[in-house]
Amino acid sequence: MAHKVVAIPGDGIGPEVMDAVRAVMRAADAPVEFETHEAGLAALEGPEGELLPASTKSAILAAGLALKGPCTTPIGTGFRSVNVQLRQTLKLFAAVRPVRSLPGVQTRYEDVDLVIVRENTEGLYSGVENVITEDVVASMKVATRPACRRIAKWTFRYATQRRRKKVTVFHKANIMKMTDGMFLEEARRVHKEDYPNIDYEEMIIDAAQMRLVQDPTQFDIILCENLYGDVVSDLCAGLVGGLGVTPGANIGDECAVFEAVHGSAPDIAGQNLANPLALLMSGTMMLNHIATTRDDEQAKLAAQRIKKAYDDTLSAGELTRDLGGELGTKEFTEALIGRV
Ligand code: NAI
Repeated sequence: MAHKVVAIPGDGIGPEVMDAVRAVMRAADAPVEFETHEAGLAALEGPEGELLPASTKSAILAAGLALKGPCTTPIGTGFRSVNVQLRQTLKLFAAVRPVRSLPGVQTRYEDVDLVIVRENTEGLYSGVENVITEDVVASMKVATRPACRRIAKWTFRYATQRRRKKVTVFHKANIMKMTDGMFLEEARRVHKEDYPNIDYEEMIIDAAQMRLVQDPTQFDIILCENLYGDVVSDLCAGLVGGLGVTPGANIGDECAVFEAVHGSAPDIAGQNLANPLALLMSGTMMLNHIATTRDDEQAKLAAQRIKKAYDDTLSAGELTRDLGGELGTKEFTEALIGRV
């Protein structure tokens, strides 16, 4: 059975990398059927005149799955980014970013393999800001027990499903005793009551950054509240070759949106220069998600085939220009399809 997936090509290099991913998925016999919907500038100029049209949101809710290319946020007031809107309206509370060293991609470390799970709905991103006086403004950091517990449960369940061994919570509860304190309390409780077999540790966020750059291989799953997760995710992407090789997902109870974390790269759009790898890796995450949540062996096999194909292609030194190689988007995609 094919699973319906909403494909949102997005803007700039989005359509090019989406075409490449769909071609590789077809070659890998992935059990997915794509239905294209617009978001971003393409949608703003379309009949609904919105960056994120209601028809795209309802299609994602109906399918439960979306693969999204980068969307340009127009500069100027009045535009809320498509990503923020998607997170809020579809209640995508877990942002998941796997970070793994890739063969053939030269970086300082060779064997990084960690996953960052970020609480996506609260903290300093709750949007509660006040003017206290003309010269004093304040932003409120919000933590609620249900959201802290929900992300902790999700993280430990994910760790079990993916056979991960350890969860490390980054926090600053020594200073933010109530908000980060509650985040820690719930993580401790979920660990103790439901997942005592998984190793659990806590690390103060500043010391954790030093340890991350000294030796990222000591981490397995990192769990963070919203702002810390946002910052740590990009730091970790830098450990393995940058945003061009980093996949991501935003997951909720009703649906999940998988996306490359890079932007629409208008400087190289339409020139056969875009690297489709990040979106392809996000697509591979989506197949693994289908395999686990919908118990589909064919999705798991397709994910394995695609991962092996890109690992082998990179190992052979067949790289796009952003990674120091010579291949264009089309040539790189053909190399992948040849190996799938
Ligand atoms: P960007 O990620 O689009 O580009 C930064 C640099 O990385 C550029 O030199 C670009 O050519 C290069 N690059 C990015 N992805 C690449 C790929 N797949 N292959 C090869 N090179 C790649 O970031 P920038 O310039 O800050 O943002 C451009 C637009 O993208 C903005 O409108 C921004 O709002 C939007 N954006 C959208 C995101 C999303 O939808 N997830 C995330 C970040 C930015």
